[in-house]
Amino acid sequence: MPTVTFISSDGKRTEVEAESGQTLLQIALDHNVDMEHACGGNGFCTTCMCKVKSGMENLSERNDREENMGVVDDPDRLSCQSQVLGNVEVEVIEY
Ligand code: FES
Repeated sequence: MPTVTFISSDGKRTEVEAESGQTLLQIALDHNVDMEHACGGNGFCTTCMCKVKSGMENLSERNDREENMGVVDDPDRLSCQSQVLGNVEVEVIEY
């Protein structure tokens, strides 16, 4: 099972185990990690954007919705569009 570590702006780390194929947003919400998701996880708002600290290679490839929203450069990813396939550490962006 992949391990996902969420890092909040105050440095708090939340480490959880996830099913392979779940999105970062699903995993965050399942574990009470505070992550915005104004469009409901449909890739139309960017409020779920996170910064990948390690394990970018363990996420699904960037998709069209991310590219359409201008999320095209590492380390930025849309959490609702990024499926976890292995261990990853992400910084949660707070608004
Ligand atoms: S929740 Fe809106 S883009 Fe991810």
